Amino acid sequence: MISTASIPTPYDDAVQARFAALWPIVESRFAKLYGADARGPAVLERLKTNLLKAAHARPEPLRALDAARAADPAWLHAPGQTAYTFYVDRFAGDLNGVRGKLDYLTELGVRWLHPLPLLEPRPGDSDGGFAVADYRKVDPRLGTIDDLEALAGDLRQRDMGLILDVVCNHTAREHAWAAKARAGDPAYRDYYIVLPDAQSAAARDRELIDVFPDTAPGSFTYDAAMGGYVWTTFYPFQWDLNYANPAVFAEMLEVLIFLAAKGAQGFRLDSAPFLWKQAGTTCRNLPQTYEIVEAWRAALSIVAPGVVLLAEAIESVEDVLPFFGGEESGCNLAYNNVVMTALWAALADGDAVIARRCLAVAARKPAQGAWLNYVRCHDDLIWNALAAYAPASDLRRWSNAYGNGEGFSRGRAFQTAEGGVPSTNGMAAALAGLTADADGDCLGARRLRLLYGIIHALDGWPLIYMGDEIGLDNDEAYQDDPLRAGDGRWLHRPQMDWSLAERRGEAGALQADLFATFARLGQRARRLATLGVAGPARPVEVSSPAVLAFLRDEGARPFLCVANVSDAPQDFELPPAFAQGAEDVLDGAPSPAGAVSLPPYGITWLVAR
Ligand code: GLC
Repeated sequence: MISTASIPTPYDDAVQARFAALWPIVESRFAKLYGADARGPAVLERLKTNLLKAAHARPEPLRALDAARAADPAWLHAPGQTAYTFYVDRFAGDLNGVRGKLDYLTELGVRWLHPLPLLEPRPGDSDGGFAVADYRKVDPRLGTIDDLEALAGDLRQRDMGLILDVVCNHTAREHAWAAKARAGDPAYRDYYIVLPDAQSAAARDRELIDVFPDTAPGSFTYDAAMGGYVWTTFYPFQWDLNYANPAVFAEMLEVLIFLAAKGAQGFRLDSAPFLWKQAGTTCRNLPQTYEIVEAWRAALSIVAPGVVLLAEAIESVEDVLPFFGGEESGCNLAYNNVVMTALWAALADGDAVIARRCLAVAARKPAQGAWLNYVRCHDDLIWNALAAYAPASDLRRWSNAYGNGEGFSRGRAFQTAEGGVPSTNGMAAALAGLTADADGDCLGARRLRLLYGIIHALDGWPLIYMGDEIGLDNDEAYQDDPLRAGDGRWLHRPQMDWSLAERRGEAGALQADLFATFARLGQRARRLATLGVAGPARPVEVSSPAVLAFLRDEGARPFLCVANVSDAPQDFELPPAFAQGAEDVLDGAPSPAGAVSLPPYGITWLVAR
């Protein structure tokens, strides 16, 4: 029984009700994961105390946000919750710089900010901040925890939210836990996974799929202080945590709770598929991994129910869907990586057949979760993620088209695991074949607008990658920086070009055209909400392979998006519900009669009258 004697009113009831509903979920997942572990009961007890303390200490403005979201559970699915992702230093120098750019982001219609990792990294190469040395401090180059809280507060004032990256699969080799482990503390040694000799490491390596086969081959790194081979799925300085240890499960949850109290409204769970390891498997997407995430969700909901969890799982849809959990608990959002990749593939071929197949699979998402729809992010474009939906010859053709200059793109090939095809690096503009001096009507600009037009029409949240709104180009300069030269993904992590952004006000400039398009897409998507558009995007069968059409018809009014993924004009005959009159939501054009004609890479959004 929990003592409520010291708990302040008037919040007791709400916290107690959430605790009563959700703690059994935490307990049940915990029992499955750690039932046999003698350390389990003490960890669970500590967790319970800390959760309740944090729930009662939750600051008033954050409680208000929780309450508003709880009162309107459908809020997650409202169209037009545009998110924007960026590296803090490359966008605006530091956190206070970001605070100074909120007018720009508001003008663009952004509702959610997702800065890439900003917690204190290891010194030197930190894989873009994905090697965290301290989860409770901000990278001093970017600011302080107070600055982070201030940014979160500014955002709340504007009805915007902050999503933080939580690198939960691994810590930096320099993290205090690793330091204690290396100093011989057995409790902390068990925070990591150490194999005794090269032979056993090699045996496990044969079961695993390399993430960085060229720059960080293998998944184990010899460490003399640890007296063995430490599990390092990514770079040698990123030490995988041992989630078979209940203390690790609790530590990372407490990190989420700490950051939620600072005003974070969401967390991106980095490398989510890798959490649980088990001999004889690839150690990706194991059932225990999903259970960990479900338990975290339930626990976080006791403290901060309005905070969302985003799964970073760049896997097949079948492996991503369980991250949404059952009806009771799971991530709220997951990257729609399969559809994203298939859209680029469609542009390469001028053929949307695979993209339709991927849309149909993505529509199997459970209703409680939402897709995060995107065109580009800070990582490479992973063609192998489409292996379940397209033959290897297709994957190779797309990889060549985008990475080897065999198509319109100026992307570049990136490393790949044995048996796979090379991934592709490059900014969206470069992949689409767009240069900064082009005019807004060129094919490259049309391709970029088309992709963003589609992701704003799908169900879920649209995500803009920093600079795409002004067609920002590749950054070749990374090759001159010894800390970045070794990782080709820096090609698409440029500095924001604010002088280019200024041109958004210049009539006729490419940047003006693109920025206005992006802003309009967000507005129009929000209008879909007021028109009562809802439900998953389901592909419509069309005879021309160049047309991608999808219907969302579970709301008050059916919605149809028709996109031409080719450079030749296409006609599309409207289904009966739209043929009798439809509103063109995107361009406000007169109601089409019976059919729509789409120019090269054209797109239209229609709501039935
Ligand atoms: C995720 C990140 C990627 C990083 C990796 C290791 O996939 O998106 O940038 O290299 O995790 O943390």
